[in-house]
Amino acid sequence: MNKQTASLMVIFGATGDLAQRMLLPSLYGLLRDGLMNDDLKILGTARSKHNQAAFRERVGQALARGVPSAEYDADTVQLLLERIDYTPASLGNDEEMAALHERIRELRDGVIVYHLSTAPRFYAPICEALGEAGLAGVDTRVLLEKPIGHDLASAIEINDGVTRIFDEDRVFRVDHYLGKEGVQNLLSLRFGNALFEPLWNTQHIEQVQITVAETVGVEGRGDYYDHSGAMRDMLQNHLLQLLCLTAMEPPARFEPGSVRNEKLKVLRSLRPIGAMDAGNNSVAGQYSSGAVNGQVVPSYLEELGRDSSTETFVALRAHIDNWRWSGVPFYLRTGKRMAQRCTEIYIQFRAVPHSIFAVGGAKTEPNALLIQLQPEERISLNLMSKTPGLDREGLRLSQVALDLDLRDAFDDKRRRLAYERLYLDAIEGNGTLFVRRDETEAAWEWVDGIFAGWRTAGYAPKTYQAGTWGPGSAIALTERHGHSWRE
Ligand code: BG6
Repeated sequence: MNKQTASLMVIFGATGDLAQRMLLPSLYGLLRDGLMNDDLKILGTARSKHNQAAFRERVGQALARGVPSAEYDADTVQLLLERIDYTPASLGNDEEMAALHERIRELRDGVIVYHLSTAPRFYAPICEALGEAGLAGVDTRVLLEKPIGHDLASAIEINDGVTRIFDEDRVFRVDHYLGKEGVQNLLSLRFGNALFEPLWNTQHIEQVQITVAETVGVEGRGDYYDHSGAMRDMLQNHLLQLLCLTAMEPPARFEPGSVRNEKLKVLRSLRPIGAMDAGNNSVAGQYSSGAVNGQVVPSYLEELGRDSSTETFVALRAHIDNWRWSGVPFYLRTGKRMAQRCTEIYIQFRAVPHSIFAVGGAKTEPNALLIQLQPEERISLNLMSKTPGLDREGLRLSQVALDLDLRDAFDDKRRRLAYERLYLDAIEGNGTLFVRRDETEAAWEWVDGIFAGWRTAGYAPKTYQAGTWGPGSAIALTERHGHSWRE
C-alpha cells in the first residue's frame, strides 16, 4: 500500500442526500470489489444527534435503497457498517466540535481525507476548526463539493479560507462529471486515437454542441436551486468541464498539472458574453407546467411555492478565442424538465468543399461525431454512403452511422458510480480528475460576466413548457447562424 493512501475518511454532511444516494453506495461498491484498502475507516458527521447504531441503521437503509439488487450483498454491507463510525457535531457548538476532533484523533492512523459534503459557506469554517485542532497537517486532504461559492468573489473567499489551512495540492474540488466513465472516455477518444486529432480544429469543425438535459425538476432542493439556477448549478461546472475536455490541447501526460493547465487555458480563452451580445448569444428559461415522459408535471414556481426569476434552463453560444477554435461556435445548453434525459457532445465537421454528385441531385450532409454520455454511453460517427440502387436518375446518398455501444463493447464491466472513481483517487492522492482553484475561478469570472450582461440588458428568463427543449429563442440561437440543435 502506498504511504499516501488514506486510512481515515471523514464525511461532513453524512446524513445528507448526496451521502445517502451516492457517497455511501460508492464506498460499498469499492469494498465489494476489493478496491478499498483494508485499513480504511469511515467517520460520518452531521448535525443530527444519532448514535453509532442509529447512524449505521440509516446507512444500511440507504444502501438497501441505493445499491441495485443484483449488486447487493448483505455480508459486504455488514463489513462496511463495521468500518463506519458517527459523531454528531455542529459548527457553533464547541463541545461537539471538540468531541469530533477527539474522535478523529482516536481513529487517525496515517493520512486523512475530509469530504465536505455541506453547504459551501461551511467550508472555510470547518477547515479553520480542523486547523486549530491540529488536524489539517501535511498528511490530510480535503474534498469540496461544487458549487464553490455563488460568484467569483465568494469563490475567492472560500478558496482563500480553505487554502489558508490546506495547501492547494491537498484540496480536491469535486465535479462529479469528471468521475463519469463516459467523460473520461472523451479523453481516450481524443488522445488514444490518431484519427480525430488532425481534424479537431477550426479548419475541419463547423460547430460543437454540448447538451446536458434532465427530465427531473428541482426534486425538493428548491431552496438551494433557487439561489443557484441552471447557470450556477450546471453550466459553471459540469458543462464548462465538458467544454474544456473537448477543446483543450493535448496535455503532456495524464497527470494533475498537465491536464489542469490545459483546461485552464480553454477557460481563459472564452470570449466574454456581455450586455451587448447577451441577447444574441445567450438564452435563459424557466419551465411552466407540462408533460414529461407522459406525466403531467407542475411549473417551477408551483414546485417552489413562490415567485422567482431563477433560470432552470440556459443556452449559450460560446467562442474560444485561440488558434485552434477561432470562429467555431460552441453551443452549450442545460435545463431541468426537458423532453429527454441526455448528456452528449456533438461535433459537426465542415461540409465537403465540392460535391462531385451534384448533377444527380445527391446531397451530402456534413459528417458528425456524437459522443453520448448519458443515459447510454455510445459513440457514433455519421458518414455519407451510397443509397443502394441502379442510379438511373443519378447517384443518391444517405447518411449512415458507425455506431459503438460502449455497454455492449464492455458488457463484462460493471458501470460504476462517479464517486467510486473519485473516492479511490482521493484516497490515493491523485488530483487529475479534480478541479484546481484557478479553473473554478476562471469559470466564475466568465459566468459572472454573463450575469452582469443580463442585468445591464434587463434580461429575464423566458418561459418554456416542461417536456420541451427550452424556450423558442434557444432554437433561434443556433438557427440564426445556420445551425440546428441535434435532437
Ligand atoms: C448536480 C446538480 O451537480 O448534478 C443537480 O446539482 C443535477 O441539479 C445533477 O441534477 C445531475 O447529475 P447527473 O449525474 O444525474 O447527470
